[in-house]
Amino acid sequence: MPETITFRRPVEDDFARVQDGLTHWWGGLGGEDGARQRRLLVPRLFFQHFTSTSHLAEDGTGRLVGFLVGFLSQDDPEEAYIHFVGVDPERRRDGLGSRLYHRFFADARRAGRSRVRCITGPANLQSIAYHTSLGFRIEPGDLDVDGVPATSHYDGEGLARVKFVRDL
Ligand SMILES: CC(C)(COP(=O)(O)OP(=O)(O)OC[C@H]1O[C@@H](n2cnc3c(N)ncnc32)[C@H](O)[C@@H]1OP(=O)(O)O)[C@@H](O)C(=O)NCCC(=O)NCCS
Repeated sequence: MPETITFRRPVEDDFARVQDGLTHWWGGLGGEDGARQRRLLVPRLFFQHFTSTSHLAEDGTGRLVGFLVGFLSQDDPEEAYIHFVGVDPERRRDGLGSRLYHRFFADARRAGRSRVRCITGPANLQSIAYHTSLGFRIEPGDLDVDGVPATSHYDGEGLARVKFVRDL
């Protein structure tokens, strides 16, 4: 029988567990500096002020197996934004990431939003495949990285990003 995964909203006390995931779930990508940068991208404020549009997934023992941090745009009433997602590498390709996203899409629809946006790095081929499979389209950019349109210096000098958008 497939194991039951439980979804819930994060609380501030979940901050350390998600930080642990950011350290250990990326296969050592970027070494200790990469892990530190990922942790800094998901600061405590998300567990204080964005919990009602974020989701955690836990296995039958209560262990964290996935998270999604997202929010409703404050400036564009049509838009919602997924800031960060992670799934335990031992749990990938089992629909968990999709379930987290569909929960967020439901949050965004309930709030009257008609579009979701997010970004990823042009080298993150698994993320590009994942977002494309979930119905995101890639927005045009000024770069072509092995056939993937990307926008140069999007997040600062030398930090190109692929921009995704999906209608709800
Ligand atoms: C991206 C990520 C969240 C996907 O989570 P997941 O639970 O494995 O995703 P799903 O099982 O729902 O996959 C849905 C579909 O996406 C596509 N997909 C997902 N991972 C893929 C991969 N590594 N290669 C190719 N396609 C992939 C497939 O079409 C898949 O459907 P299928 O398994 O039926 O073929 C997960 O790989 C992850 O945590 N990666 C590291 C973090 C990251 O890159 N985050 C995004 C940028 S911040």
